[in-house]
Amino acid sequence: MVSFLSFSNNASRLTHTKIMATYSITVNGETKKIDVASDTPLLWVLRDSLGLVGTKYGCGIAQCGACTVHLNGTAVRSCSLPISAIGTSKITTIEGLSKEGDHPVQQAWQEVDVPQCGYCQAGQIMSAAALLAKNPKPSEEQIATAMNGNICRCGTYHRIKEAVVLASSKIK
Ligand code: FES
Ligand code: FES
Repeated sequence: MVSFLSFSNNASRLTHTKIMATYSITVNGETKKIDVASDTPLLWVLRDSLGLVGTKYGCGIAQCGACTVHLNGTAVRSCSLPISAIGTSKITTIEGLSKEGDHPVQQAWQEVDVPQCGYCQAGQIMSAAALLAKNPKPSEEQIATAMNGNICRCGTYHRIKEAVVLASSKIK
């Protein structure tokens, strides 16, 4: 369904037009319908429309990784991905990574006690999980490359690396 959102009170003058549409997306294994403008970033949909606030807003310009989710298993920056680009792709957020919070990466994160303030950590975990799904035994260089775009203002990088190595050892 496509509709036009807002027009001027003066019918002869169009001041602002937003094209709204209904999108059907698959998030954490469930189909969700939302009515949003076509250029709405996926991050906004997840947080504001679906209440999945585990995914964080950091920079909004694909530079910090706080908003990382999986799109068909690949780590993507949801702040810079318009809803119109999702199509039938499957989205996984931190809420859907595992049922009990027991994904090997989540277990390793707990064992190493990685977080400090915690703000960046959902994005870090999603990037690490995407890496290990594709490459369960990454080299240190491959870990560094995969995690490079995830910024941690608290500087937990050493513990992040330790946890990725530990998670890798848990994956058979
Ligand atoms: S909020 Fe998306 S990369 Fe920073
Ligand atoms: S734990 Fe604070 S920003 Fe990473």
